[in-house]
Amino acid sequence: MKKVIFAILLTTLSMTGQAADIDEGKKKAVSCAGCHGVAGISANPAWPNLAGQKELYLAEQMKAFRSGARASALMGPMAKPLSDEDI
Ligand code: HEC
Repeated sequence: MKKVIFAILLTTLSMTGQAADIDEGKKKAVSCAGCHGVAGISANPAWPNLAGQKELYLAEQMKAFRSGARASALMGPMAKPLSDEDI
């Protein structure tokens, strides 16, 4: 019985941990939605869609914007304050 309770507790803990990360991510992405759309589909023909893109590719692009390796007047300042964990 103790084992079962422990397992339920662990599952609950790990679930709330995950929810917190997703909520954190959503909060950080609020400013991104203005250009890239709430669901990752941009409303402006000059701004790329992000929805459906590969996760690794997106993370590498964000790091390139942050370092300046990929120059963009719009994305550089957006990426600069982000940590690896944020990305
Ligand atoms: C002011 C508008 C604007 C905002 C706000 C913005 N972006 Fe962008 N984003 C762009 C534009 C424009 C590009 C294309 C940049 C280029 O290649 O010169 C881009 C490119 C990207 C790319 C690369 C896409 C690709 O296909 O290579 C990613 C990833 C990205 N943005 C993520 C984000 C994230 C995450 C945020 C919020 C932290 C954000 N953007 C906020 C305008 C914006």
